[in-house]
Amino acid sequence: MKAVVVRQGESAPTVAELPRPEPGPGEVLVRTLRVGVDGTDREVIEGNHGGYPEGEDYLVLGHEAVGVVAEANDTVFEEGDVAVPTVRRPPADGSNEYFERGEPDMAPPEACVERGIDGAHGFMAEYFTSPADLLVPVPEELAEWGFLVEPVSIAEKALEHAAAARSAFDWNPESALVLGNGSLGLLTLATLESRGYDRTYCLGRRDRPDPTIDVIEELGATYVDSRRTSVPEIPDAYEPMDLVYEATGYAKHAFETVEALAPGGVGALLGVPESWSFEIDGGRLHEEFVMNNKTLVGSVNSNVGHFEAAVETLADLPGWLLDDLVTGVHGLDDYEAAFATDANRRSARTETRSRNDETTIKTALQFAQI
Ligand code: NAP
Ligand code: BGC
Ligand code: ZN
Repeated sequence: MKAVVVRQGESAPTVAELPRPEPGPGEVLVRTLRVGVDGTDREVIEGNHGGYPEGEDYLVLGHEAVGVVAEANDTVFEEGDVAVPTVRRPPADGSNEYFERGEPDMAPPEACVERGIDGAHGFMAEYFTSPADLLVPVPEELAEWGFLVEPVSIAEKALEHAAAARSAFDWNPESALVLGNGSLGLLTLATLESRGYDRTYCLGRRDRPDPTIDVIEELGATYVDSRRTSVPEIPDAYEPMDLVYEATGYAKHAFETVEALAPGGVGALLGVPESWSFEIDGGRLHEEFVMNNKTLVGSVNSNVGHFEAAVETLADLPGWLLDDLVTGVHGLDDYEAAFATDANRRSARTETRSRNDETTIKTALQFAQI
């Protein structure tokens, strides 16, 4: 079968011919329909995040998959069911407490591998296997958008943890700010809209016209340009935020988030930055946390419950949004296009950029007809 891999020492994916995997006991064989691409895939390809399976010199990419059960193998699934796999699996030395509790998303990196990202082959292949209990059913009518379940599940987890961190008092959030207009930021913005936040904002660093700004505004949110209004200036320029969701990977935002929060507010940090030393006023931040009862939560990955919630959220998202967000679905004969770096996209620390009208927001690779 064909698979899209990144080989050690190379910085671009290629197509490889690999044997079709055999499902073991309790595992299902899935025929892949589509696999999405996100910022993490680009970081993996560039060698800035994740790693190869032990003893191997290539990694099958892809962690945002949807497929059809091809061999149910005496599990709860039936052949023809549409399903989405979760990402984390136990490490080579076996299962551990996080997996046994059904909370692999809470495992530290050394207590898990991540398919398509870190230490385990991913789903960008014509077939993949998965334990049935790490595969989440999706209604057939959502099959074409099923690759968005994983990124939406990332938002579900982070928002659940953020709300839990404010559960000791009567917290009624009305304003929310998403930092970052990449695919995770926009999907989270849409999720927040569907949850009925009164006022939503999304921060980017792009000039109009830009399709991400169109999506932000069509969702009813306000676009904030970080080149004109820095994150700490947002409370004065707009309003203090009950919730801030960082999805830029721009490390300064982790700290600036504290200054954008309203008293009692919560910031969820999702970005995975590179090492970067810079100065911050630690005393001021410390005082802000304490005197205004603020909190920050870091959040990575998601578990089966978050995937199930994401299926519900995805079913409620407006059709126009999915159409506008998914700017390209590419066949294997055109796989490079799914990874093409948008000329609009910049490294997290670059301060200038050139104009380009061809903006990709979210792309996917299609392996089989839906
Ligand atoms: P992405 O497509 O690269 O999106 C990042 C967005 O942030 C881009 O649109 C970028 O703008 C914008 N941005 C970066 N720095 C900015 C700044 N200083 N001011 C304004 N906007 C800025 O990546 P993604 O897939 O959406 O993911 C976002 C981040 O979350 C990444 O760091 C990724 O690794 C991480 N992530 C984490 C998890 C988790 O489980 N914690 C899951 C998925 C992704 P331009 O496009 O204009 O450059
Ligand atoms: C994936 C998560 C993963 C995280 C860190 C994200 O892009 O969606 O499943 O845990 O990267 O590697
Ligand atoms: Zn991802």
